[in-house]
Amino acid sequence: MSNKTAILSIDGIKDSIELPVLEGNIGPNVIDVGGLTAKGYFTYDPGFMSTASCESKITFIDGDEGVLLHRGYPIEQLAEKSDYLETCYLLLNGELPDVTEKARFENDIRYHTMVHEQLCQFFKGFPMNAHPMAIMVGVVGALSAFYHDSLDITKEEDRRISAHRLIAKMPTIAAMCYKHAIGQPFMYPRNDFGFAENFLHMMFSTPCEAPNVSPVLAKAMDTIFLLHADHEQNASTSTVRLAGSTGANPFACISAGIAALWGPAHGGANEAVLNMLYEIKDESRIDEYIKRAKDKNDPFRLMGFGHRVYKNFDPRAKVMRKICDEVLADLGLDNDPLFKIARRLEKIALEDEYFIERKLYPNVDFYSGIILKAIGIPTSMFTVIFAVGRTPGWISHWNEMISNSYKIGRPRQLYRGHAKRNYPH
Ligand code: SDX
Repeated sequence: MSNKTAILSIDGIKDSIELPVLEGNIGPNVIDVGGLTAKGYFTYDPGFMSTASCESKITFIDGDEGVLLHRGYPIEQLAEKSDYLETCYLLLNGELPDVTEKARFENDIRYHTMVHEQLCQFFKGFPMNAHPMAIMVGVVGALSAFYHDSLDITKEEDRRISAHRLIAKMPTIAAMCYKHAIGQPFMYPRNDFGFAENFLHMMFSTPCEAPNVSPVLAKAMDTIFLLHADHEQNASTSTVRLAGSTGANPFACISAGIAALWGPAHGGANEAVLNMLYEIKDESRIDEYIKRAKDKNDPFRLMGFGHRVYKNFDPRAKVMRKICDEVLADLGLDNDPLFKIARRLEKIALEDEYFIERKLYPNVDFYSGIILKAIGIPTSMFTVIFAVGRTPGWISHWNEMISNSYKIGRPRQLYRGHAKRNYPH
């Protein structure tokens, strides 16, 4: 614990206010401003640019250095040496599993991949052209209707089984969204397939022939899920924490996170990147779009570029670009026109003063869409893939909060409306 303090003097208040400074193991220290309310003051930080909302041990980001650690392990090492389910275990439990723990966890997840058969009825209520994120929000939120046996969030066992159910069922529900959209029958998960292999099987197999999932694409899919697994207190994770702070059940909290992720400034960016590359269409038009991205009067932004925290390359984008190279080569799409536009766009932007000055680099969403498209996943499913990948992060933060002391999240405000006035006559 730090014995450092911050001294705040405010015009009009005789005595200065002493506020404790709390030290992190790594990264910035924080000033505990809890004592300000008693002095009649709130802090003001729209967008939480300089606000730590909680204490956490799960993920650390150094935006200036482009560092991302999950329980201390660099994302590059996890992407190279670990796999998605092992990373899920690490996020949830704080340590890498030994061989027995890993096998048990994989088995736990494997035997929860099926959804309740009645859940299939939900899909009949959605039009075929419904955005799959609209379906995910609804269906995941409704999961709590099926699990009355394990919704006591005060019990560690109930929290564990809910976490496993969510990690296991998200890919199944995601694939059901896709099958619903194309009018094909839902495919059941297979217990002899790996996590990502099972997802691609449920997405692209049909009852008419034996599954045929490419190991290269399954590995790429597994790493894409891994790269999306967690990212500290981003907008959707903060939404999950806020919903969880009211005591809402974990399925409702994850549904809230899915809703927040959908926005194009957040998880919807991967879909927006592909739509942007389609709109640019040709390398000859890149300069026109770079110009638009810099024009304050033009709402166009370079999707997949910029980040609230990273003011350097997003380390996930570097791994994603490598996977992109590998998958396109494996599929014989080395000359994919969208990939060529993306590479040229990245080069031009990284040399442009506007982007350099604002430290705008490619983020995790810049390349992911090109890979997903090459695998055969439609653009509308890209954010769904992000939601599947992010589930262990969301549920780990939820569990970290619920298993420690916490208070309901209830921000205050700077009020600039009318003072008290009486109803006329
Ligand atoms: C994710 O938080 C997370 O961790 C999120 C995430 C995760 O894993 O959970 O990493 C996933 O959401 C990645 C980000 C995906 N979004 C996009 O790619 C959309 C495009 N990016 C921008 O919308 C923007 O960069 C944000 C939303 C990501 C960050 O916005 P900030 O931090 O609020 O920064 P800002 O909007 O204040 O921008 C600062 C300046 C502004 O110019 P000035 O007013 O200073 O002149 O940079 C400009 C912005 O106009 N700018 C861009 C830009 N991003 C910022 N200009 C052109 N194109 C862009 N992409």
